[in-house]
Amino acid sequence: MTKSPSPVKSASPLTTEEDAGHALTHGPPVLEVEGLNVVRSNALVLKDVTFTIHKSDYVGIVGPNGGGKTTLLLSILGLMPRANGTIRLFGQPIEEFTDWQRIAYVSQDAINFDPQFPLNVRELVGLGRTGRSNIGRRLTKHDWDAVDEALRFMGLSDLAPKRIGQLSGGQKQRLFVAKALVGEPDMLLLDEPATGIDASAMEAFYHRLGSLNRKKGTTILITSHDLGAVFYRMSEIMCVNQEVNVAPISDDPEMERILRKAYGEHFHFVLHGQRLRRGPNNGRS
Ligand SMILES: Nc1ncnc2c1ncn2[C@@H]1O[C@H](COP(=O)(O)OP(=O)(O)OP(=O)(O)O)[C@@H](O)[C@H]1O
Ligand SMILES: [Mg+2]
Repeated sequence: MTKSPSPVKSASPLTTEEDAGHALTHGPPVLEVEGLNVVRSNALVLKDVTFTIHKSDYVGIVGPNGGGKTTLLLSILGLMPRANGTIRLFGQPIEEFTDWQRIAYVSQDAINFDPQFPLNVRELVGLGRTGRSNIGRRLTKHDWDAVDEALRFMGLSDLAPKRIGQLSGGQKQRLFVAKALVGEPDMLLLDEPATGIDASAMEAFYHRLGSLNRKKGTTILITSHDLGAVFYRMSEIMCVNQEVNVAPISDDPEMERILRKAYGEHFHFVLHGQRLRRGPNNGRS
């Protein structure tokens, strides 16, 4: 079996070496959604959505185009008006939640920005060290060390002095993930961050996210159309098609049931025997 490209070695907690242990302990709830309805352009896009995500869950969000994945992420960020329902973040109702630096988000459209934007790669990642509440503060040496570490972690060190308009699409995606994780968030929301990334960079990308999840306990929710990556890398699957259903990734029939709900009864998938993060009967009891 081919190994992923050699990861960057570093003494920091972001070190990306393979983690042999796959013990999946179940942390406290960090995201609780109950009875959520969201309407866009007079159409019900999310219907009676209820689920709980726990600390250190690594959630692959899947579902057809237009199913409501991006709408759900925007709702979690408090950016989408709710028709009904409640959202709790780290145990607090979203209306009272102010600790937004604990949550980082990379939008599906992050890479579509003005190519003349007058920052280089390192400076843009530096913006990720200032939260919503202290934009404009001067970065310290400690901040810049964290920036350099995030660049190394995402394999972008060589591009640090480049203007961001000079990067390729896949490089820009990695750049925005670096900016998101440099603030050391407890929860990372990534909306299709891997779309433009080539196969070998993709392997390293998922490897890095898995390492972040296991070693730092970062909760990750990531939308993807790559079901294989979700099955073999992540701990839970969230199927979104107006309804939302979450199941541990395992060979349990529940996973197939919720995939069919999202993609239709004809949908069929085969697990090819690779090791799942949760092996057979290793799901949460
Ligand atoms: N800006 C908008 N205004 C009104 N309706 C919208 C808007 N953006 C999306 N919608 C509608 O909301 C529904 C859900 O869209 P959403 O973008 O959440 O889907 P998605 O699952 O993220 O799809 P994709 O896989 O294509 O990214 C769709 O029916 C879409 O037409
Ligand atoms: Mg989307």
